[in-house]
Parts: sequence; C-alpha cells; structure tokens
Amino acid sequence: MRITIIGIGYVGLATAVALAYLGHNVVGVEKDPYKLKLLREGKSPIHEPGIEELLEQSKEKLDFTDDIAGAVADADLILIAVGTPPKMNGEADIHYVEEAVRQAAMGMVSGSTYVIVIKSTVPIGTGRRVMHVVRKTLAKRGVEANVHVASNPEFLREGMALRDTLYPDRIIVGAETPKAVEALLRLYRPILEQTFIPPPFLPRPEGYSLPPLVTTDPTSAELIKYAANAFLALKISFINEIAGLCEKVGADVKEVARGIGLDPRIGPHFLQAGLGWGGSCLPKDTAALLAVAAEYGYTMPIVEAARVVNTRQRHLIVEKLQGELKILRGRIIGILGLAFKPETDDVRESPALDLVRILTERGAHVKVHDPIAIPKAKVALGELPVDYADDPYTLAEGCDALILATEWETYRHLNLAVISRRMNTPVLVDGRNFFNAEQVRRAGFIYLGVGR
Ligand code: UGA
Repeated sequence: MRITIIGIGYVGLATAVALAYLGHNVVGVEKDPYKLKLLREGKSPIHEPGIEELLEQSKEKLDFTDDIAGAVADADLILIAVGTPPKMNGEADIHYVEEAVRQAAMGMVSGSTYVIVIKSTVPIGTGRRVMHVVRKTLAKRGVEANVHVASNPEFLREGMALRDTLYPDRIIVGAETPKAVEALLRLYRPILEQTFIPPPFLPRPEGYSLPPLVTTDPTSAELIKYAANAFLALKISFINEIAGLCEKVGADVKEVARGIGLDPRIGPHFLQAGLGWGGSCLPKDTAALLAVAAEYGYTMPIVEAARVVNTRQRHLIVEKLQGELKILRGRIIGILGLAFKPETDDVRESPALDLVRILTERGAHVKVHDPIAIPKAKVALGELPVDYADDPYTLAEGCDALILATEWETYRHLNLAVISRRMNTPVLVDGRNFFNAEQVRRAGFIYLGVGR
C-alpha cells in the first residue's frame, strides 16, 4: 500500500520504518528541516534501539519530504502522527493535527479515495473535527474525493518502539465505515498474521501470540488510549503508595509486588516502586483525561490521586535523603541517570529532573550523569547551576550522597567500592530499587531503597 505519515516523531518514525520493512511504500512528512536532513541521510533524530538499522534495511521503500500536499495525492492511507502538546488546562492541543489534515486535503485529487488514520493521542471527538476540516478544505477547492477517517491509537513504549510496533499486544481501530476498517486490515495484515521474517536484531518474542484487531467506534478507540495510560499510571502510583506503608511497617515492597502480581487478575507488570512515572505520555495523558472529564462536569478522583501520589513520590525520596544527611543545604548530591527511563535520551517530565530542581531549591549542589541524555537535560535544566559529569566515578567525587534515578543497565557494572571511597559520605538512595542492597552495603555504602 502507499502510505503517507505526517509527523516523524517517536510514533511516526517507528511506524514508518516498520511499515516500510513490511513492504509498504512509505513517505514520511517532517517539517523540521534539521530532522528532515538527518532522516534523508538515513540517520534517526531520536535515540531508539534498532531504528537506524531498520532505516537502512527499509530505505528502498522509504522516502522523506516536507511537502504534505505532494505526498498525499496518490496515497491510500494518510497516518497522522504529529504532536498534541498539552494546553494550560491539560487538554491535548490538536491544532497541529488540524493543520496537517488541512494541508493533506490540499493535496487530495477528485475521484480518489483516502483513509485518514489518526495515531496522535487526541481528545474525544477529534475524528469528527478532522472530517469537518477535510470536507471544508475540499469544498473550497472544488475537489470531490472520497474520504474516511479512522482512529488507530498507538501503544508503543519509548526504548521498545520497534518491538512494540512489530509485535503489538493488540491493534485498535475505531472507524465508522467498513472501507476504513478494510484499509487498516490490509495495512496491518503482515503484523496480524506475523507473515514477515523478523529482522535479526528484533526477533519475535518467545511465546508471542497473534494480536487481535479490535474494531470499535472512534470515540471508544480514542478513550481506550487514555484509559490504558491512566491505568498504567495508577498501577505504578498504587505500588508506590504501598511502598510508603512498607517502610512504616517494615515490609519489602518487592516481595509484596511479587506476591500480588502472581494473581493473573493483577499481573506482574508495572509494579516497580520507585521515583514514579515520567515521560511524555503518562503525565500528559492523565492530565488530558481529567481535562476531558472536566469538560463534562465529571470528576475522576482515582486518576487525580494517581497524579498526587506521583508528585509526592519525588518529595518522599528527598525527605528520605534528608533523614539520613539531616541537612541538605550545602551538601553535594550526585544523580545517576536523567532520562525518564532507560534506553532513551528523553527527559520530558523525568523524575530525575524534578529531583535536581527540588534539591537545588533546598540549597544542595547537584551533580548529574547520564549515558546519553545530558544534551537534552542541559536544555531542560537551562540556567540551573548543575555539574554535568562524564562518568559515574567523576560524579561520585566529593559527593555526600548519590541518588539512582534511572536504572541504566550500565550502572549494574559499576565498581561500587571504588565509588563509595570517592565520596564524602557514602550514602546511596536507590530510587528504582535497582541494586542488590547487600552488595551495595558490602561496597561500603549506607543503602536506602524505596519501600524496603
Ligand atoms: C507509555 C505506555 O507504556 C505506552 O503503552 C504508550 O504507548 C506510551 O506511553 C504513549 O502513550 O505513547 P512510555 O511513556 O514510553 O510508554 O513509558 P513507560 O514504559 O510506560 O514508562 C513510563 C514511566 O513509568 C517511566 O518513567 C518509568 O520509569 C515508570 N515506571 C514504569 C515505573 O516507575 N514503574 C514501573 O513498574 C513501570
């Protein structure tokens, strides 16, 4: 099929390379000249495991441009994957979506059929709004094209974007016409039936079973996306709340999570206590869900509470540190990891950056390290007086405490005894319950985990 993808961010790029790999002819539209230049050179503007390899393997089927109208004329499917940044009230702003759709309609030709697929996370009712924009633009141009709109929310995780695209748990399609459903069925058939040969670096997960295609109405599809992210957020907040109680009563949250996760109704995933959730999705989507509810005069106290617990979690970690050091003012604190989670250089809403801000506010001097996220962290932290260390050993030099904020696998291989000797006082707050407490203590540290 001929696919045009508008917006080459995480979702757009992962989808573009995966669909090209599966044999579709894909044109990616990116307005940012710097990103477009990189893409045309076969380089990825984002850090995502496997993406450059797949870009290379799919290059015959993949093209990039900044001309939406030109890329749309003979497309079968137009995928919208532009950003939907939060407005002041938390609601997702769809003006990039509307602009992309308006420009796409400028390229449509009479007599052709187009299916517009919304992959961006958008407020309820956006499908209808998109149809209105298309109809208005086509009428102005005097063009008579046959247009269908479908909602196809995305569930990929950063750091696992290609794996989640090629081997999804489910594919959700919200559409009002059979034509749109048929088009998406054709698009995803190689994934639904797993008929492709996996790239050597992205093997099919063991025990993977064929994903269902769930067809539903557009409104339910739009809400499925928000409900999924909100549920993940509250699962993490729940275990963090339990972790706090574990500390009071002397239980170990890892044991509690294991014990409850074995119940298939609860499940073992997303029960890792720690600093809480960050990133571009869970914080934004929970806020957007509350904004949608507010529009209808409805309250969602569970989702609200998940957000409150998540913010509190950062402060509890700082209080834990203060409990050990007594005074934070004038202390030197090292933060290991800045990305909102491992395998990405994304620092949006990263718990680590919140720690930097809280500690600086309390008068501590903060040093930081991350294997890849420092350039983005520098932009996010701006003028804050922070020292950026090249490696964890330099970071530890003269520190009164270290806080592990992102569980990078490389940190597992650190020589902790060397690190503890370089510190002023060897205190380690393990904000992700990542280390083996006994080993850390043997390396000379005072070890403080979360909920253990
Ligand atoms: C999330 C969802 O997991 C994806 O399904 C969804 O497609 C995506 O948002 C999106 O809407 O685009 P992502 O933001 O990449 O994906 O990150 P997650 O893996 O969900 O992690 C989010 C945060 O939760 C991270 O800060 C992570 O450290 C934290 N987390 C995760 C925990 O604190 N504990 C856990 O047990 C799991």
